[in-house]
Amino acid sequence: MDLQILPISAPKARIDDENELIFGKQYTDRMLVMEYDRNKGWHSARIQPYGPLLLDPAAMVLHYSQEIFEGLKVFRRADGSLSMFRPADNITRFNRSAERMCMPQVDEKFFLDAMLELIRLEADWVPHNEGTSLYVRPTMIATEPMLGVRPADQYLCYVILSPVGPYYKGGVAPVKIWISDYYVRATEGGTGEAKTGGNYAASLYAAKEATENGYDQVLWLDAKEKRFVEEVGSMNMLFLYDGKIVTSPLHGTVLDGITRRSVLTLVKEMGYEIEERALSVDDIMEGSRNGRLQEAFGAGTAVAISPVGSFCYKNTCVQLGDGNPGKLTMELYNKLTAIQYGRHTDDHDWITLL
Ligand code: COI
Repeated sequence: MDLQILPISAPKARIDDENELIFGKQYTDRMLVMEYDRNKGWHSARIQPYGPLLLDPAAMVLHYSQEIFEGLKVFRRADGSLSMFRPADNITRFNRSAERMCMPQVDEKFFLDAMLELIRLEADWVPHNEGTSLYVRPTMIATEPMLGVRPADQYLCYVILSPVGPYYKGGVAPVKIWISDYYVRATEGGTGEAKTGGNYAASLYAAKEATENGYDQVLWLDAKEKRFVEEVGSMNMLFLYDGKIVTSPLHGTVLDGITRRSVLTLVKEMGYEIEERALSVDDIMEGSRNGRLQEAFGAGTAVAISPVGSFCYKNTCVQLGDGNPGKLTMELYNKLTAIQYGRHTDDHDWITLL
């Protein structure tokens, strides 16, 4: 398939002050688009001006949520060059989500090359300040107008770009975590592992409860016993517990995070023992009180590494340590961002330079 590059009429106005960048609020001049039809396969790949989509009101995504997405980042280094962190892994995961949602596979090499071409054209939009980046959002939606419930025959795949500041307003400040004792995000056999919009829609009600109580994010427990920690929708959770790194195993309900994988590699190299097992909510609450839980942090593309300062469960709230980011958490934040921004060598072949 060829990639067509269409002109833009006029560049958009930009936010001059990079400190004003809000996650996911502004978009660049262009987007990548390609279409799929069951008979023709993928076709009409093009980079075109960013703008609204024309969708039939009966498009299946609007009724039955056949949709997937990914999240990646482009970083500007001190010498002005641009880097991406493990982009091929995101595209592979995009295809795994597509499989689960009965959507067509993309050609990983073509899609990655086309995405890189889009980013090169929009290179000027990559912000400069530490902690900022250009967030890349590949998305696939079912466009066929059809109200019968079945996989669609037509799809649109597109990539949009957004210059961003930190995901949380406070930057790397500790977040307050609300543990939901009733609502669940994913069940075994469900779609928890797929990066599909429905998982995020299902999380909103409990997130509202958390916000109303002054908390930032919801930590989900397993759906069966409502006892074991799974993930926070926007990030995987990792714990320093009894001196070991503990994180939920991947058994279908937890996203196979690329930052999670990278952090596990880094902590292993630092000599930590890793236990991929489900920590219980009692371990968290009791562990915060008696010091067995030494640190907790989230890991994800949007947040990078996000320290946790406190937990609240069934109206009991506990502070973790002195409430400040833990030593290991900050060491990992610094290590990961140093690799991404080019201050540290890329010893794992994680970086794609543009
Ligand atoms: C990401 O980390 O890129 C994500 O997709 C999480 C998102 C819900 C902000």
